[in-house]
Amino acid sequence: MNSDSELPPRVPAPIRGASPADLDEAARVILSGGLVAVPTETVYGLAADATNGLAVAKIFTAKGRPSFNPLICHVSNLAMAAELAEFSPLALSLARAFWPGPLTLVLPRTRTCPVSDLATAGLDTIALRSPKHVATLGLIERVGRPLAAPSANPSETISPTTAAHVAHNLASKIDLIIDGGACSAGLESTIIALAGSGAVMLRPGALERSQIESLTGPLASPDASKGILAPGMMRRHYAPRARLRLNALDPQPGEAYLAFGAPPKPHSPSLNLSIRGDLEEAASNLFAMLRALDESHDSIAEAPIPGHGIGEAINGRLSRAGGNS
Ligand code: TXA
Ligand code: MG
Repeated sequence: MNSDSELPPRVPAPIRGASPADLDEAARVILSGGLVAVPTETVYGLAADATNGLAVAKIFTAKGRPSFNPLICHVSNLAMAAELAEFSPLALSLARAFWPGPLTLVLPRTRTCPVSDLATAGLDTIALRSPKHVATLGLIERVGRPLAAPSANPSETISPTTAAHVAHNLASKIDLIIDGGACSAGLESTIIALAGSGAVMLRPGALERSQIESLTGPLASPDASKGILAPGMMRRHYAPRARLRLNALDPQPGEAYLAFGAPPKPHSPSLNLSIRGDLEEAASNLFAMLRALDESHDSIAEAPIPGHGIGEAINGRLSRAGGNS
């Protein structure tokens, strides 16, 4: 994906330190829907307000990700985390032992979780961690909301462990870079999914298996864990139950219509991904609108979406949703 041609030219993001004034500025950028590269102990993250779907969509555009992976949401403490996910006793003891630190927990979302469906790719679960870096913890405290942040590198390139790496690869696509020095671990967090009583290692990372197993007992691998996990737990994306007809200009009788842009005919669309034809707005609405129509209809007709920019990820997601993957 190359969205450069569709975006206005941008000045390279300024690089700031981690003084209180710098963090205040970063918090203002995040709260106004911008993107800030932030230091963590593992790798630099590309952060946005996780509750703002449009801001989360910008992460995917900046990374040039051709598909929507669910993102890790970063919190400053356990109280913030508990508003987002259901903590079992085992989840609580892992968070108490290893946060802040390089452990990501995949847990069921709470019913009132305010995180955008795009950040979790429409899943009923959410990945959470509290990063061990004073600057980023201070930023999250100032924002007062979770920060969605994948590693701050263009898709399919090496994760950055210094502010200079981020500046080199992403400066023209983001709003601000916080330089908090070189990452101490230099390797991504370990990801553990908890469902029922079982713990599954989804990604090995900076926190060693043996340390986690001292609390969880032997960790299952994702393949061996199908019996442990609740149905749907391992699905990386929301999969609609309804039949999905793509590139539809008109709904047929009985079909819900998921529109994009001004509807070409005088049908009233059931829902519109973006009346003004904005792809980032469409991305931010995609999972929530699919879910809403899926609950009320057996068939959904879906309007054509341009394939440029983040439209590639939207179309990829829709064709998998319609193709039983
Ligand atoms: O160290 C790290 O974890 C860094 C720093 C910035 O925190 N972040 C990071 O994010 O590596 P990212 O987006 O590159 O990797 C997140 C991984 C992805 O493989 C994604 O599929 C998985 O977490 N993930 C996120 N939410 C999930 C969920 N609900 N269920 C299963 N996997 C999930
Ligand atoms: Mg990554």
